[in-house]
Amino acid sequence: SIAPLIDPFARPITYLRVSVTDRCDFRCTYCMAEHMQFLPKRDLLTLEELDRLCSTFVGLGVRKLRITGGEPLVRRDIMSFFRSVSRHLGQGLDELTVTTNGSQLARYAQELADCGVRRINVSLDTLDEDKFAAITRWGRLPQVMEGLKAAKAAGLRVKINTVALKGFNEEELFRLTDWCAAEGHDLTFIEVMPMGEIGGEERLDQYWALSDLRARLEERLSLTPLAERTGGPARYARVEETGQKIGFITPLTHNFCESCNRVRVTCTGELFMCLGQEDRADLRAPLRASDSDEPLRDAIREAITRKPKGHDFDYSRQNVAGKVSRFMSHTGG
Ligand code: GTP
Ligand code: 5AD
Ligand code: SF4
Repeated sequence: SIAPLIDPFARPITYLRVSVTDRCDFRCTYCMAEHMQFLPKRDLLTLEELDRLCSTFVGLGVRKLRITGGEPLVRRDIMSFFRSVSRHLGQGLDELTVTTNGSQLARYAQELADCGVRRINVSLDTLDEDKFAAITRWGRLPQVMEGLKAAKAAGLRVKINTVALKGFNEEELFRLTDWCAAEGHDLTFIEVMPMGEIGGEERLDQYWALSDLRARLEERLSLTPLAERTGGPARYARVEETGQKIGFITPLTHNFCESCNRVRVTCTGELFMCLGQEDRADLRAPLRASDSDEPLRDAIREAITRKPKGHDFDYSRQNVAGKVSRFMSHTGG
């Protein structure tokens, strides 16, 4: 039988994040530049090739697949990919899921549910239409709200991802929290990570430590830490007053790399062993070199031997340009 993937720090790799496109219909200011140079379409792996990559990883012990972008649901014919990959559910794969900006959910929520997707993560940083348009550079909040309605109707569990931004959604902390409780959505706050050439010193001003955000929540709400995990980096708490679940993703204030279980592959077949490092491995060449999966498996195994201990993101003045020059959208987080 085929040995599972274990990295040099004895961490089993069971979670693959697959970015199916670098494109997006929004331009969130912390994620992309205003004028992005997107990859030429000819460099993209086909959906069949991405499917083969996923299958190979499932064969190597991956139990959770998260489809990301850019915005995954803007890739043409993406539902045929979901339908195909879903054949692994219950056959090694425990969870097939997606992180989306919600703009295309009105159209796709039901089909995702039909493919065995049970829960989705939807990025939403503000409930104010003007602020939403500003942070996404032109996104329309009502479109996302329609998408969320469709997700609910399709029976998908929704987790809202909110990037914590000082001076942006600080004053909306309770509005967002109350709204999620009312809608029955889980909510996860995320510390903004310094990736790509974005914002210069503004980036330092925007950074909002979740230790502070959490303390502010606790001025009004009682949070009970939960032991449960979703296989991602979030730590969860239950709000006693509402019963809702809130997650905290704290790459800066509480590094969670020691329990890292994931790698990410891009739409051109680059494998990144860590979100916060530049090192990558090319899987496109071995994928295309042979119909046999053996060279591909060998390339994956070799890459995993190089998985680093963790990221070294920080917000010191001298590091304002960021140590990781690619944008978040390149790997979809
Ligand atoms: P769940 O399955 O719900 O746990 O999802 P998830 O948190 O794994 O995925 P999601 O796509 O919702 O990502 C939420 C945030 O976590 C994004 O900002 C990601 O960039 C970040 N994230 C995910 N994996 C890692 C990681 O390995 N390291 C760091 N630093 N951030 C990560
Ligand atoms: N730091 C933290 N999270 C980010 N995301 C995008 N850019 C950043 C960043 N610089 C989030 C999005 C989405 C998830 C995939 O990553 O909001 O929810
Ligand atoms: Fe698009 Fe998501 Fe990046 Fe925003 S965070 S620009 S929605 S990929």
